[in-house]
Parts: sequence; structure tokens; C-alpha cells
Amino acid sequence: MTQRTVYVNGDYVAEQDAKVSVFDRGFLFADGVYEVCSVLEGKLIDFPGHMRRLKRSAGELEMGLPWDDDALLTIHRELTRRNALEEGMVYLQLTRGSAGDRDFHYPGADTPPTLVLFTQAKSLVDSRSGREGIRVATQPDWRWARRDIKTVQLLYPAMAKMAATAAGADDAWMVEDGLVTEGASNNAWMLTHDGTLVTRELSHAILPGITRTVVLELAQALSLRVEERPFSVEEAQGARECFVTSASSFVTPVIAIDDVPVAGGRPGEVARKLREAYIEESRRRAV
Ligand code: PDD
Repeated sequence: MTQRTVYVNGDYVAEQDAKVSVFDRGFLFADGVYEVCSVLEGKLIDFPGHMRRLKRSAGELEMGLPWDDDALLTIHRELTRRNALEEGMVYLQLTRGSAGDRDFHYPGADTPPTLVLFTQAKSLVDSRSGREGIRVATQPDWRWARRDIKTVQLLYPAMAKMAATAAGADDAWMVEDGLVTEGASNNAWMLTHDGTLVTRELSHAILPGITRTVVLELAQALSLRVEERPFSVEEAQGARECFVTSASSFVTPVIAIDDVPVAGGRPGEVARKLREAYIEESRRRAV
């Protein structure tokens, strides 16, 4: 595999030379936030939305972000260019940096944050899960109570995905008090038999997905009725269709929940339409 070029605190370096301190708070405390922005035909998808959420995540944690949107766009574009990335993702991580020691308290504002970006090539439009759908297994939502902040504390989502894989599924859906919160790394949706699209309302319980926002707009353009409310596992299992949304999966049909087939175990028509519309709109808006 060819060596990637990675961005670390102002420098573009070969991946084996990309290093941060062992005292970095991202490493010691998961004191960091991140974004994943997808790339199609070498251009960035939903970039302004991802940067808006990055600022919000950092702000909620009183973390400095001494780069404006233009500077961040330049870094994203330069990294995409240097890695000749046509399709895939750009991962960005911002941490509170290193105070040179381990101390729970935040260091002073004079401690520079750490900013790291790298690319990951992946076929996003032509993907098997997009075509055939995925099977999900439910897991208790044991994440922290501020899931609206996109932090790098992803151990529990990783555990949930491992448990889902062990159960023969492709991904996990998180459940709290009998209600689906979201997927382990995506937002969860269902379509009722009377044609209403349902996804959970924004709160501290879920991440405000950027793809979710665009899909809500597209649903309106397609004259679909939309309700933002929680739904149970049983309601989703009996729904006309289910799907998930995220930057890296766009709109991906869900064909089974805990081994109960959804929509006869085949990708649904509305999920397919929304996926196509999302890809078309993304190509149009890419920067
Ligand atoms: N995950 N919910 C969770 C818990 C997520 O981690 C993600 C994104 C989403 C969807 O957000 P968006 O549409 O903005 O990508 C919802 C990214 C892709 C990841 O961790 O790789």
C-alpha cells in the first residue's frame, strides 16, 4: 500500500512520521472531538455542516479551535490532493493538546490543541451494503449522556459493533428504555406503513447527524411526511422500511433487526430513492 500523507499540527508528513505526544489529552482522557467528511470525485461533501458541528462540539467542551472554516477547507483540500483521494473520507481529530503531564483539569488556554487529519479511500457510492442493505443487532445504549457532542470516546460503540458482529449482524442499533436512540455510528430511521418517515428528535441522546439534516430536506422535497420522535425496536421490526444515515454510508437500508426481517428482508424503495437523491445532491453541493 502506498504511504499516506497525514496532517499533524501544521505539517503534511508521511504517515510513519505522524506523531503526537503520549501526554496528549486525546490519548489520556479521550479529550478530543472529531469529524468525518466524505469525498466524491475528489470533492468534499456537506463540508459546512461538518465544520459547524465541529465548532459546536469544541464549544460544548470549552476547547479552543484556532482555525476558521477557510483554513480547515484548505487543509482538507490539500490533504485530498496530496493523497489523490477520489472517493472516501477525510477524518479530522481535534484534541485539547498536551500539558506535558497527566492532570484531569483542563490546561490553560496557552496549551495549543492538537489537530490531525488523514484520508481513507473507500468505495462509497458503489457499496455492497448500500445495494443489499445491512442487518443490525440491538445493544443497550451504555454510552455517556452527551451523545450530541462528537467526541473520540468510542470504546462503547466499538464494543457494541463487536457484539453485533458476534450475533451475525453488520452493525449495532442502540436501545435505551426500549427505544432506539441511533446506530453505533449512524442515525436510525424507519418508514411506517402509512408512509411517514420517522427518526428520533435531536437531544443530548443522539448525535445531530449532518447526513440526517440533508435527508430530512430531501424527504420534504420528495413530499414525504416526516415525524421526529423516538420509536421502539418492535415498531421498527414491523415497519415498512428501515435505514441508517451517516457521512460514510449515505443512506443504507436495514433489512433485519435482531434477525427479524424488515420489509421482507430486502432494501426498501424509499431508502433507495433517498440514497440516490442524497448522492445526486451531494455531488451538486460538493466543494
Ligand atoms: N459517524 N450517530 C453517531 C453515533 C455517529 O457516530 C455518526 C457518524 C452519525 C451520523 O452523523 P453524520 O451524518 O454527520 O456522519 C450518527 C461517523 C461517520 C464515524 O464515526 O465514522
